[in-house]
Formats: sequence, C-alpha cells, structure tokens
Amino acid sequence: MTHPDIQEIVYSEDRVRARVAELGAEISRDYEGRSVLLIAVLRGAALFIADLAREITVPVELDFMAVSSYGSATKSSGVVRILKDLDETIEGRDVLVVEDILDTGLTLKYLLKNLASRKPASLEIVALLSKEGKQRVPISCRYTGFSIPDEFVVGYGLDFAERYRNLPYIGILKPSAYQD
Ligand code: IMP
Ligand code: MG
Repeated sequence: MTHPDIQEIVYSEDRVRARVAELGAEISRDYEGRSVLLIAVLRGAALFIADLAREITVPVELDFMAVSSYGSATKSSGVVRILKDLDETIEGRDVLVVEDILDTGLTLKYLLKNLASRKPASLEIVALLSKEGKQRVPISCRYTGFSIPDEFVVGYGLDFAERYRNLPYIGILKPSAYQD
C-alpha cells in the first residue's frame, strides 16, 4: 500500500531492485579479480549499500562516512561537514563511493577531494539517483541508477526531515506533507 503522504511512486520496489541488481552485475564485471571497498555516505545511502553489496560477486568491504549538507530543508547549502569519518585507511584500495542521490554535486565534490588526498588506488562513484540539469559542479559518476527530473523524492533511504527513509519505493511527497 502506498503511504498516505506519497503523491506518486516514481520507482517501484521492483524497479529499484532490478536496477540495483544490474548495477551490482556491472560493478562485479568491472572489478573482476579485485576487491572493492564500498563507502556509503550516511544516512541516505544506507539502504542502497546494503542491497548493492549483496549483488556484487567480487570481495566487498564496507565503510561509512557521515556528512551534513542539508539539515532538514530541501535546498543544498553547499556547506559540508564530516560528522563521522571512515574507520579504515583507504590508501591503495579500490574505493567506490555509494551515494543515494547526486543533486548539486557539492557534497560529492568535497568528499571526493577529501578521499583522493588519502591516495586510494582508484576512486569511483555509484549514485542510485542523479537529478538532471542540477549539477553545479562537474562530477564524473561512473554508475548511475536512474536519472530523475528535478523533484524532491523520498524513500529507499531518502528522507524529508528524517522521515520516509523506510519506504521500499521512491516517490514524490504530497505538498501537504511538507507542512507539519
Ligand atoms: P548535493 O550536495 O546537492 O548533491 O546534495 C546531495 C544530498 O542532498 C543527498 O545525498 C541527499 O542527502 C540530499 N538530497 C538531494 N536531493 C534530495 C531529494 O530529492 N530527496 C532527499 N534528499 C535529497
Ligand atoms: Mg545523502
């Protein structure tokens, strides 16, 4: 059943699952013979990394970072703070940053610069969603799940004011849901 605050489902649970499986297969092919260190950017990418990791057949390790760029508003501030750093060093590792959504790119730009300075063997990005025409800084995203129009979406890890992350699909909120 669709959540009463959701106006429209953009990607159903089945479509998300199928696309995540395709991404996992592609990553497995590309990293054949190597192991990959997946780094999720909390909290939005938590659900995506959990599903993606299970679709990858080469050896996988996981680590997590938390940054803040949004607060609870729906506009990117461009101000990024590291709230939680990695537990392990990444020097010489094949690193794949797992993001929920690429919007302005400001968060990832900062993060990539920071991670690159730690000298990984390779550094790539997989983003489940990418907003068309919204990127304010060029980011080369190796893998993208879906390109979406510029609308605020929730579900499958994505939140509005920390809610709706547990919806199994990705959808657009009803305007009334922003009010309380
Ligand atoms: P950026 O720095 O503008 O690329 O912002 C990226 C971050 O903003 C994402 O990791 C999300 O946490 C958040 N974000 C951007 N667009 C949306 C959206 O449509 N729904 C929920 N969160 C979003
Ligand atoms: Mg995020």
